[in-house]
Amino acid sequence: MTEAFDLLIRGGICATPNGVGPADVGVKAGKIAAVGALGAAATAEVFEARGLHVLPGVIDTQVHFREPGNEHKEDLESGSRAAVLGGVTGVFEMPNTAPPTTTRAAMDDKLARARDRMHCDYAFYVGATPANVGALALLERMPGVCGVKAFLGSSTGTLLLDKEEDILAALRSSTRRMAVHSEDEVRLRERKSFATNGDVRTHPVWRDAEVARVSTERVLRLAQQAGRRLHVLHVTTADELPLLAGARDLATVETTPQHLTLSAPECYERLGTYAQMNPPIRDAHHRKALWQAVHEGLIDVIGSDHAPHSRAEKDKIYPDTPSGMPGVQTLVTILLDHVNAGRLTLERFVDLTSAGAARIFGIAGKGRIALGYDADFTIVDLKAKKKIENSWIASKCGWTPFDGINTTGWAMATIIRGQIVMRERALVASGLGAPIRFTDTISPS
Ligand code: DOR
Repeated sequence: MTEAFDLLIRGGICATPNGVGPADVGVKAGKIAAVGALGAAATAEVFEARGLHVLPGVIDTQVHFREPGNEHKEDLESGSRAAVLGGVTGVFEMPNTAPPTTTRAAMDDKLARARDRMHCDYAFYVGATPANVGALALLERMPGVCGVKAFLGSSTGTLLLDKEEDILAALRSSTRRMAVHSEDEVRLRERKSFATNGDVRTHPVWRDAEVARVSTERVLRLAQQAGRRLHVLHVTTADELPLLAGARDLATVETTPQHLTLSAPECYERLGTYAQMNPPIRDAHHRKALWQAVHEGLIDVIGSDHAPHSRAEKDKIYPDTPSGMPGVQTLVTILLDHVNAGRLTLERFVDLTSAGAARIFGIAGKGRIALGYDADFTIVDLKAKKKIENSWIASKCGWTPFDGINTTGWAMATIIRGQIVMRERALVASGLGAPIRFTDTISPS
């Protein structure tokens, strides 16, 4: 007899467009085939979800997996292993690799490297440079590409698009939502002397709130001029929020779990250069404003900005230390801990970690538990309490800024297009990741 389903996720509390409530989910050929009371249905396999919450697969819209060029920090295999162990089903990966992902050949190479090695679904950003502006329209539409990313201020790697005419040319050159790292290069250079040798607490003094505000104000103006949709990555300041609130027709907004969780000066005193990232972790006043922006619906997505560096690199003397911290594996538990603490509803968690990305980037068939969508699920135990430990981190860097922190709410299984990839903290299927598809660039079949 033909089974109705390949997989039946039974007895869980499910986050669907109807709200959060009891529902079984039937999966057939990698897609959601039924949602409801399906207990008696014939199925090849059952996932017993009693006591668990079944959420749409979490999509991390900002990770740096370092391949090619810096595989001692991470590669596409290890980074995506960290992702699925943490409950993440899809990632958008950043172009500041070596060489950077700025040409057709570099993108083909990344896509070829990802095939059969990545454990979660993926899309790659193209980096914008003054030299490749003419090619962006074609590059951004390649299958497996989520869009263009521009570094408006220097960070890790060589990518930079800081001159007004170049930013405008990039904004005019293509049409998909363009993502920006928004820090102002001129002010960064002017203030470099504030970065005091051996004192990482000066990192947010050098890269101050005004660095971010000036840049965001300018890029919003340029996007308006070009009529181009924008995505402002890792927003960190109270100062940018009113500007972004005034540009909702054009701009969407991302922040990170670490900017919502850590604050200066405590994080620098406790973690030293391991808390150094760009834009920086700032004081509690900014963190409070970011939470307010979450509650008021201004933040569209939360991405981890997973940016691993080795301990040897992080142990150098500031400011010779690289900026960035890992986060793809801890994103789900850190945010579920905020859910348990009453700072975030479970519905808003879903909005920020799957539905939001699908809505603003036009992801095809993901981000929702609904008939015909990809069977991607992050199955969580909202009440599980565990300690985050460096020994759990699959990332090649081998550390997390959240080491030693107890959190409540953990991913128990990661299911991607109907295949159980992680179960109870173990990888149970390898290399099944596939390119994420987008509604505005679906290729004809
Ligand atoms: O802290 C950061 N690290 N910010 C970035 O913009 C880049 C990232 C990295 O690649 O290390």
